[in-house]
Amino acid sequence: MGIYAITGGASGIGAGIVDWLQQDGHRIIVVDLHNADIEADLSSDQGRQQAIAGIKALAPDGLDGFIPCAGVGVNIKPVSLISRINYFGALTTIEGLKGHVAKRHGAMVLISSISATMSQSGAYVEALLAGDEEQAVALIDELADGNEAYAGGKRALTCWMRQHSGDYLAAGVRLNAIAPGYISTPLNEKIEADPTLRKVNQAFAASVPVGRSGRPEDIAHAAAFLLDSNSSFIAGTVLFLDGGHDALLRPNDF
Ligand SMILES: NC(=O)c1ccc[n+]([C@@H]2O[C@H](COP(=O)([O-])OP(=O)(O)OC[C@H]3O[C@@H](n4cnc5c(N)ncnc54)[C@H](O)[C@@H]3O)[C@@H](O)[C@H]2O)c1
Repeated sequence: MGIYAITGGASGIGAGIVDWLQQDGHRIIVVDLHNADIEADLSSDQGRQQAIAGIKALAPDGLDGFIPCAGVGVNIKPVSLISRINYFGALTTIEGLKGHVAKRHGAMVLISSISATMSQSGAYVEALLAGDEEQAVALIDELADGNEAYAGGKRALTCWMRQHSGDYLAAGVRLNAIAPGYISTPLNEKIEADPTLRKVNQAFAASVPVGRSGRPEDIAHAAAFLLDSNSSFIAGTVLFLDGGHDALLRPNDF
């Protein structure tokens, strides 16, 4: 059976992926702030390096897959923490583990979002894609817009994945992304503790075309499918898992 690593595996979607892979008989190494095999804070470079070194130490022969899932929602202040954790936390661990996943010709599944299609700030996304953490952080803190910090971060992560799909494949690593819509997790509970954000969030949740919110297992099952070696022809793709929301909002874009 396989050996996988995940960040943000202690809660929500990440915990759902951990359960799913364990039920399939795989071993999974969890990185999170608490309740994890490796406790590390991905908002700082020190924490990111600790996560990479810890994973390598626990899986010396390489990984069959990696899922950078840790993330925070639009309620977090300062808003630049969203960029640091959701974008740079993911990107640094992906790059740090590339060779390790290549050792076993494995796959990575990035966690994007339906909001990646809603970003408005090209300059912020460009700074993220240029890898300029301090410039991106300065730009987004000036805008002080949690929605853009989140959506732009997910847009940049998704573009980065598609830009690098080819060179990762050449190195022996398959990249894909899942773009979830509204999933019931502690992240959304925290957002909905704010009365203004609650209104917007709950209106979005109520408009999911399939008539229900997503569940962590909806994402877990798709992540397991994309990680599986039988999916070896699927590369560089973005799978919207959103109960039909993206089709409703952007029927002619695919
Ligand atoms: N819930 C949704 O509707 C939704 C939709 C689209 C995308 N996503 C994405 O899915 C991923 C998981 O979100 P979730 O809804 O399961 O949230 P969650 O809050 O349930 O889980 C997120 C996990 O990330 C960890 N984390 C947060 N900051 C961290 C840090 N600095 N260092 C290390 N770990 C940290 C948390 O401790 C937590 O265990 C995130 O990337 C999120 O952006 C969620």
